[in-house]
Amino acid sequence: FNIPQPYNEPVKNYAPGSQERASLQKKYQELKQEKIEIPMVIDNTAHHSQDIREVRCPHDHQHVLATFHHASTQDAQKAIDSCLNARKKWSTTPFHHRASIFLKAAELISTKYRDVLNAATMLGQSKTCHQAEIDAACEFIDFLRFNVKYAEQIYQDQPISSQGIWNCLEYRPLEGFVLAITPFNFTAIAGNLCIAPAMMGNVILWKPSPKSIFSSHFLMQILQEAGLPKGVINMLPADGAEFVQEVIKSRHLSGIHFTGSTSVFRAIWKAVGNNIDLYDSYPRIVGETGGKDFMFVHKSANVQAVATAMIRGAFEFQGQKCSAASRAYIPQSMWSQLKDILTAEVPTIKVGDVEDFSNFMGAVIDDLSYQKISGYIDRAKKAEDCEVLVGGNCDNSKGYFVEPTILVTQNPQYETMVQEIFGPVLTVYVYADDKYEETLELCGSTSEYGLTGGIFASDIYAVETAYENLRDSAGNFYINDKVTGAVVGQQPFGGGRGSGTNDKAGSYLNLIRWVSPRSIKQAF
Ligand code: ALA
Repeated sequence: FNIPQPYNEPVKNYAPGSQERASLQKKYQELKQEKIEIPMVIDNTAHHSQDIREVRCPHDHQHVLATFHHASTQDAQKAIDSCLNARKKWSTTPFHHRASIFLKAAELISTKYRDVLNAATMLGQSKTCHQAEIDAACEFIDFLRFNVKYAEQIYQDQPISSQGIWNCLEYRPLEGFVLAITPFNFTAIAGNLCIAPAMMGNVILWKPSPKSIFSSHFLMQILQEAGLPKGVINMLPADGAEFVQEVIKSRHLSGIHFTGSTSVFRAIWKAVGNNIDLYDSYPRIVGETGGKDFMFVHKSANVQAVATAMIRGAFEFQGQKCSAASRAYIPQSMWSQLKDILTAEVPTIKVGDVEDFSNFMGAVIDDLSYQKISGYIDRAKKAEDCEVLVGGNCDNSKGYFVEPTILVTQNPQYETMVQEIFGPVLTVYVYADDKYEETLELCGSTSEYGLTGGIFASDIYAVETAYENLRDSAGNFYINDKVTGAVVGQQPFGGGRGSGTNDKAGSYLNLIRWVSPRSIKQAF
């Protein structure tokens, strides 16, 4: 079978006055008023619990968008049984039949459910229309299309045979079920953590984040409409550690596909280690966690390009990206000019309700997040070794709004140079031009993370020095570009160190983790 050549979904721009903008606005208003009830999904059937919770808009926190049924540990057992039952058929369903479901889901989003998925992402996760389009529509469609192609490549990779001998590798799915624990910040990542193992014939217990359950609900419906058989993905929204700790006690746990915080990932890994004698096979653990992503600037860089990359890298998506630029190393000779540009441009960034399509940033996800981010800003205002260059105002009276904020410090170990904030806060450290190499080393050794980072320079030797010195500091390394916005099929995404297992999302390197190959030798 000839799998279609994948291509990146073209991004719509929702220009003022356009039909596409009017259509998305209409869907946004409809969903805002509907007050739907979101069930768990087991066996492609709605399941209800006694524990019903509210879903609210981050940019309008008094507005109840929906309610959802929170799963219990008993529900988890039902979902595991459903997965294991579905596995019997799904694990042997021919790949081209499995692939057709995911390709159909991509078409459904592209042509029929784009507005629904985008509007749900805007309402539930406070993304602007452009952020939602890039995430929920384009990136998720890209994951669906490209992963089908990468899966085909894996299946085609076969050993050699010789006279009288036929060797082959059978890429079996894992034996058991995969637990997908998905984050609030990207609808596409939530979807990909489920569809990547499912594509390779695995069955999934999906624990979406309750913070983004609104978009997850529609995503699940689309997969069902695309033809996903019952039990292949069971969706159980649940909060907190107790549910996960219970699920990972199952002897049938064959893998965990995780995106979220470093501390939660480590706790899960430790618990799996403690349970290791329980399992039928060693669970595959694939995780993408935090980041403390850097922009390193050499004096030969173009100052306007640096300013644009800082603003876009740090503040798009409200800074709620594991890849977001959060520390910048700037040469003294450039600082005065760069500072002028930043102090002129950053205050013009519009932050507010995403219903107004002219806003560049929405709200951060919830009060917990707001308190954490505003805490860093408040401490910076009082700190002796840090100052607020621009921004710094926070307001949670209607929604959880945080101004794009740039801090400046001369302490390279200041807390915002080291710790992940997961919000629109960028910290600048200014270094003496003649300390380029030393500062590169400082940058490389400051953080426990290793996700994204970049060098800005027009001097090729400066680029080379950074490239060598920062080799272990970023799984996605950028030269003269912002450190965010990896595109599926173009920049496989993931990092090492404390940032995760670096099993590159959107590539065969990720899909290969979801198979347990059987080597078959036949003699004639
Ligand atoms: N893949 C997303 C990015 O690169 C998170 O920004």
